Amino acid sequence: MILLSIETSCDETAVCIVKSLRGKKIRFEVLSHKVLSQVDLHKQYGGVFPALAKREHAKALTQLIAEALDEADLLEERKNTFHLPHAQKHKLKTLLEREPEMLRALTTLFEGVQKPTLDAIAVTAGPGLEPALWVGINAALAFYHIWDIPVYPINHMEGHIIASLLSKNGSTYEITDAPYPALALLISGGHTEIIRIPSWKKYYRIGKTKDDAVGEAFDKVARLIGLSYPGGPHISRLAEKARTDGVVVPEEFRLPRPMLHSGDLHFSFSGLKTAVMTRVKKHPSLDDTQKESLALEFENSVTDVLIAKVKQAIYETNAQSVIIGGGVSANNNIRRAFENLAKSERVELYIPDTSLSGDNGLMIAATGIAHIEANVLPKVKISANGSWSVEQA
Ligand code: KG4
Ligand code: ZN
Repeated sequence: MILLSIETSCDETAVCIVKSLRGKKIRFEVLSHKVLSQVDLHKQYGGVFPALAKREHAKALTQLIAEALDEADLLEERKNTFHLPHAQKHKLKTLLEREPEMLRALTTLFEGVQKPTLDAIAVTAGPGLEPALWVGINAALAFYHIWDIPVYPINHMEGHIIASLLSKNGSTYEITDAPYPALALLISGGHTEIIRIPSWKKYYRIGKTKDDAVGEAFDKVARLIGLSYPGGPHISRLAEKARTDGVVVPEEFRLPRPMLHSGDLHFSFSGLKTAVMTRVKKHPSLDDTQKESLALEFENSVTDVLIAKVKQAIYETNAQSVIIGGGVSANNNIRRAFENLAKSERVELYIPDTSLSGDNGLMIAATGIAHIEANVLPKVKISANGSWSVEQA
């Protein structure tokens, strides 16, 4: 079975084509994977600007799909001129009413090439920015209406969980059987959640942030000390430099560990950002060492809190494995801290390869394959759901 995935939930337009392989475990081969980042466009706004994200997805998606189909050797041009029947044209026009540019591009694709041997489409339907999600969903539904390819809506956060469970062997990927009960810590630009996973594909959210997500806090703190969006990798680099330089954080730059002793599994990071802001206001022209100190202390604070909460969750749920997912899981200090925790608590740890920690198409394709293997049915009506919980995935 060959599946195409589409991901447009935030500021990455991504598509992936995979071929599932037979076997006891869920295995597949990647035929093509393309990720187009809009980060440089959003930098000027200091964050993701939804209307711009939507416009850029609509501009890029059809071409990206065509390139992926071509790379997967699934694209065959028609020899004779062909026009879509009136009813199909009308259907496309209604579906893509708000995306005229994508309507033109998709019509050219449908009229210019033979139907490829695609068996299914997996598309992110939430959580994320709804205008951006709609672009991917409408493109997927166009493939359903014109080429009759079934569409599976995928939850982006489940995608991050499954990305962490992937192991690579040559050109094939396999979804690892984690020992259950498992826990997932999802840390991204929009989410900070602890999920209890009693068995494969069952999710219960037992902890979440009351305000900012971890990635959001990284981005805001980076901005406060004059670093560009997305700030996570910049903060991480400064903090690592501070560690190798042996920087000792001065008393005035010490930061709180929010919610460390709250007794529950919830988080709050907006106070931490405010604490950084107060220090920056006192020192309006921070020198490099002061910036390094703040980055180090901020990263250590976040890491301490994440570790403490997951440790408590391991005790409360008797978890045998811990899955870390989402863009912030690329952070080296957080990775090291969880490797140590896994050793001391004797749990299995699953962290995504850094090439798959950020948003990508492969995680949505892998989740699509997992749904099909679990006999989930495709949908004809799909809506973007910006706050779709992983519990309902
Ligand atoms: O999962 P993701 O790519 O997009 C969302 O679904 O939100 O996560 C993006 C977030 C951004 O806030 C970014 O600053 C953060 O992940 N991030 C990092 C690192 N790399 C990316 N945060 C800390 N350290 C990093 N190395
Ligand atoms: Zn994400």
